[in-house]
Amino acid sequence: MDWSPTSWQNRQAAQQPLYRDPARLQAAVAELSRLPPLVTSWEIEELKARLAQAQQGKAFLLQGGDCAESFEECQSEIIVQKLKILLQMSLVLTAGMKKPVIRVGRMAGQYAKPRSADEEVREGQSLPSFRGDLVNRSAFVAEDREPDPTLMLRGYERAALTLNFVRSLIDGGFADLHHPENWDLDFVGESAMAAEYHKLVKTVSDSLEFFELIGGESIETQRVEFYTCHEGLHLPYEQAQTRFLPHRKSWYNLTTHFPWIGMRTADPDSAHVEYFRGIRNPIAIKIGVSAGNDQLQKLIEYLNPDNEPGRLSLITRFGAAQVDEHLPRVIEAVQATGTHVLWICDPMHGNTESTREGFKTRRFDNIVEELKAAFRIHRDAGTILGGVHLELTGENVTECVGGARGLGEADLARAYKTQVDPRLNYEQAMEVALRIAGQLNDNH
Ligand code: PEP
Ligand code: CO
Repeated sequence: MDWSPTSWQNRQAAQQPLYRDPARLQAAVAELSRLPPLVTSWEIEELKARLAQAQQGKAFLLQGGDCAESFEECQSEIIVQKLKILLQMSLVLTAGMKKPVIRVGRMAGQYAKPRSADEEVREGQSLPSFRGDLVNRSAFVAEDREPDPTLMLRGYERAALTLNFVRSLIDGGFADLHHPENWDLDFVGESAMAAEYHKLVKTVSDSLEFFELIGGESIETQRVEFYTCHEGLHLPYEQAQTRFLPHRKSWYNLTTHFPWIGMRTADPDSAHVEYFRGIRNPIAIKIGVSAGNDQLQKLIEYLNPDNEPGRLSLITRFGAAQVDEHLPRVIEAVQATGTHVLWICDPMHGNTESTREGFKTRRFDNIVEELKAAFRIHRDAGTILGGVHLELTGENVTECVGGARGLGEADLARAYKTQVDPRLNYEQAMEVALRIAGQLNDNH
């Protein structure tokens, strides 16, 4: 069947805003289509090759960032903190797992969110749900909730600003393994995990020194790779930056390296699957408890018919209570297709709950439990868990409960800042990395 960047428009597209004025939407899409791309096909192909290595257990993927980025938080300090935590975690994982870590930030485009209802009702008034800064504004006021297509342009600009800053930091040597002191966050000194972290940093520095000594030259660690990902939810935005590259004879989504299909839009006959089918980026699908085996097998057939290495990742998100029931059957269904995927565990989205005070939260112990179970189940099935997908921030927020500092429900009100889902704070994220590095031992 013919594919084009607009062929998804012939299908039912879930989770899309209703723009009142189609001409304004067209104008915004046309303008976005003329602007330069945010990423390049060689970076995208490089990432695909790296994901293929993770599929074989020769590398490990660390994918993380905000549930929803906000335009407001496109600030140097916040971006630096997020980069720092991802770099620190990757260092811990490299040292602990003894394999290279592929870093992918939920950054520079994670601006659109799926919602459970199209409308939100408060005190008898019904307004369109807030769907992320790419679509509308969060205040519960009719004017702000009206989807505004020019916000796509503002989102593209914020993504470009974020990426430009991240690239400059990395090019300037910020991520150089020789200088991990660059990434110490303010409160690392008093953290319960500080000693363990510094021990791992020293292990990495010593290994580098050792190899430099026997190799007689310094190892180039300055140019680390850093990639971006976001949920490819808002199809007009994704479509606008989809380009045909004659030298590759293929179409690429050039807003991000690694887009994924969310759980709510992963119907094989959906507009989203139609769109993703035609781009050559590595892609991922979120798999929850409601994903049937037939659905999975169809998705694989549509999205990776050639069994291309690194092309397709499955991000499973069942929750600690249901992972044992669902992950084994999903692995079997994939094995039956004879094709290979990269298995990633998202221990966040199946473990969301609400406190009595009405805060959406996640328990640290459930997050670790799901991860542990995923490692065990894959080992038993002869498959490889090649990555982890986390919602985290480099800031000292109080959104998830538990962890070494023992955050309780009563602490949540102190610094609860997320726009949508609760994120691991700096220390909790670090602790997850240390637990994975220590193979999630109970006594760790
Ligand atoms: C998310 O990653 O923020 C999200 C909405 O996930 P899922 O599609 O798995 O629910
Ligand atoms: Co989320």
